[in-house]
Amino acid sequence: MLNYRNELDKMPSYDGVEKNYRIKVNANESTLSLPPLVEERVINRLASLAFNRYPNAEYYSLVGQIAENFSVESSQVLLGSGSSEIIEKVFHAFGGAGHKVVYPQPSFSMYKIYAKAAEAEGVPFDLDEKFNLNVDDFIKKIRAVNASLAVVCNPNNPTGNALTLEQVEKIAASIDCAFLLDEAYVEFYGRSAVNLVAKYPNLIVARTFSKAYGMAGARVGYMIAQSEVTRMINKTFMPYHMNVLTLAAADIVYQMRDEFIPRLQMIIAERNRMFERLKKLSGVEVFPSEANFILFRLKKAEELKNYLESLDIGIRYFSPGAFGLKNCLRVSIGTQFENDEVFSAIKNFLEIGQ
Ligand SMILES: Cc1ncc(COP(=O)(O)O)c(C=O)c1O
Repeated sequence: MLNYRNELDKMPSYDGVEKNYRIKVNANESTLSLPPLVEERVINRLASLAFNRYPNAEYYSLVGQIAENFSVESSQVLLGSGSSEIIEKVFHAFGGAGHKVVYPQPSFSMYKIYAKAAEAEGVPFDLDEKFNLNVDDFIKKIRAVNASLAVVCNPNNPTGNALTLEQVEKIAASIDCAFLLDEAYVEFYGRSAVNLVAKYPNLIVARTFSKAYGMAGARVGYMIAQSEVTRMINKTFMPYHMNVLTLAAADIVYQMRDEFIPRLQMIIAERNRMFERLKKLSGVEVFPSEANFILFRLKKAEELKNYLESLDIGIRYFSPGAFGLKNCLRVSIGTQFENDEVFSAIKNFLEIGQ
């Protein structure tokens, strides 16, 4: 019999289902790949890479660009294979036996899994029925359990709502432990807390290239914190954990990030248009969103998910056990054409009373 690590069999698995739908709006990805001009530059760059060398120069080139953009030192920036790796390492750095990690629920389902993987105790804190976070009670909870790490996703996945920067600052200022702010969707919100890092030594901001920059396939994310914090967290990474292809591509994408502004504006406008349309459907409760997706609730959520699937449209349905998400569906915002297709299908489903 294979002798696995203790408790591995009890580890929950990430339940994202991946299939190539005609319209794929289930994973909060960017529906568009790189802008043509960016893609051309990336391809040219890849042609001249030194595959035989470990990717030092490429790592520090991207770190330097990010540091310059946020007016921080290079020593304050760490890169990861997606922000997934960043988050996992932060949990690892502040986890371990007897350590507690507090995070709101419902939120990104991986926090629970990372806590378990880090052998820490995950302590969920319930959002209210409108998915708002009671900041004062959250702070009390973090203090009461003597947490070593608090995590907030802002804007929150899957609910789409966001804390104000004042609320984020209040949390950072009121707790002694590390505070990880997961800003995977912040480009669609426009209010990042990176500037607060200078003031709060416990604040760690995680960002990703997967959503706004359409690079989910390349796997690149980063974190910004004070140098002493990054120095410690850096100990949890393997050497050369990022590959040269990803780093070189992300370096170009970051240089050319202005090319992404029109599509960001398009996604935000489309999100607002979709919200207004969904709101008018009777029997549908729609939650306001600051991200590139919208959460909504209706009685026949599972039936609607199946109906959409029959049309080769993939949307995110939450299992009945997912806290607070009963009868909820989450739709990522695509192109205008895709959003129109999805909306018509939803409307059709409601009209034919499936
Ligand atoms: C809130 C949140 N954080 C982090 C991630 C991880 O993204 P990535 O590893 O692609 O950067 C996701 C992915 O969906 C997410 O929703």
